[in-house]
Amino acid sequence: MARRVEDQAFVTLATNDQYCYGALVLGQSLRDNGTTRQLAIMVTPQVSQPMRQQLSLVYDDIRQVDPLDSHDEAHLALLTRPELGITFSKLHCWRLTQYSKCVFLDADTLVLHNVDDLFDREEFSAAPDVGWPDCFNSGVFVFKPSEDTYNSLLQCAVTHGSFDGGDQGLLNTFFSGWATQDIRKHLPFIYNMTSNISYTYKPALLRFGESIKIVHFIGTAKPWRYTYNTLTSTVSPPAEIGHGNGHQLSYVQAWWNVFMSSIKPRIEQAQGGELAVHFDSLNLESSVSSAPREPGSPRTRQHAWEQGEVDYMGSDSFEKIHEHIQEKINGEDKDKDDEKK
Ligand code: UDP
Ligand code: GLC
Ligand code: MN
Repeated sequence: MARRVEDQAFVTLATNDQYCYGALVLGQSLRDNGTTRQLAIMVTPQVSQPMRQQLSLVYDDIRQVDPLDSHDEAHLALLTRPELGITFSKLHCWRLTQYSKCVFLDADTLVLHNVDDLFDREEFSAAPDVGWPDCFNSGVFVFKPSEDTYNSLLQCAVTHGSFDGGDQGLLNTFFSGWATQDIRKHLPFIYNMTSNISYTYKPALLRFGESIKIVHFIGTAKPWRYTYNTLTSTVSPPAEIGHGNGHQLSYVQAWWNVFMSSIKPRIEQAQGGELAVHFDSLNLESSVSSAPREPGSPRTRQHAWEQGEVDYMGSDSFEKIHEHIQEKINGEDKDKDDEKK
């Protein structure tokens, strides 16, 4: 086994039990990909005791921090994410000074390949934000803990505030040289692939998809809000998102695969005891209405199509689609004829 590096850590944050589901899967995905670094999580007092117990099975270091909130409702409204003022709590990561270098990862990220090479980078390294590529996205970044930097960041918050009400606006103001000064501090997009957005550039996803190392489920459609069908082992998006607008289902599926294989069994083991974590807020469904889809059924084909698995030579061939449309047209004509009679 590779030697554990004691003075470098991957760090995440969870201020409530919901985001802890994300953190549990993230930590497990780092372990599954053989990281040699420490895993640290910052939690606020709101995180329950049973959840902390679960976190301790994945993380080396659980650090309680005080919640920091921007309370900047006006800017958060522009972002349409009123809940993200609390992300100022991320700033506490600069206080983890027993580590010489760290990589921060949002709790809504999933690691697909080993990313220990991120520790070769210097502060402040991050990937472009797809919404505004001259800014970086603050879901994945390399930093060097320092009380001085922490204090300067707080000072910057007081003086300049945050233009998005969350940590990303503040950090982009503070590390404003990122866009132009040193290209080595631009992480490749494959280290912070925002899956719902890149979907709009599908050719690139097909060309480079294999090399994606970290998926970031930005926005309100977090994987733990999707429904997981325990009979079919498939996922579907929350009702208000619907097919087509959320994250690419194959990545959400990858998240759930880690959850089902490693996290759920551990939670169940603790179930019933004092340390019970309740699944109530997760959508695990196995009802008859969501019975397994017949292989080859229209629903199954639709699901595969939506995941980009198109059976060009078979059921999705031009002939089949043409046949289907003809059937529909003929059927409608027949209905109309029947109506006229
Ligand atoms: N976070 C948290 N509690 C919250 C909101 C956010 O702990 O109520 C943390 C969590 O680590 C999360 C990060 O802050 O991943 C940034 O928020 P989010 O990922 O929701 O922002 P997005 O990436 O969607 O813009
Ligand atoms: C961003 C980032 C997230 C950050 C939030 C608030 O979109 O993905 O990491 O916390 O906005 O600034
Ligand atoms: Mn995020």
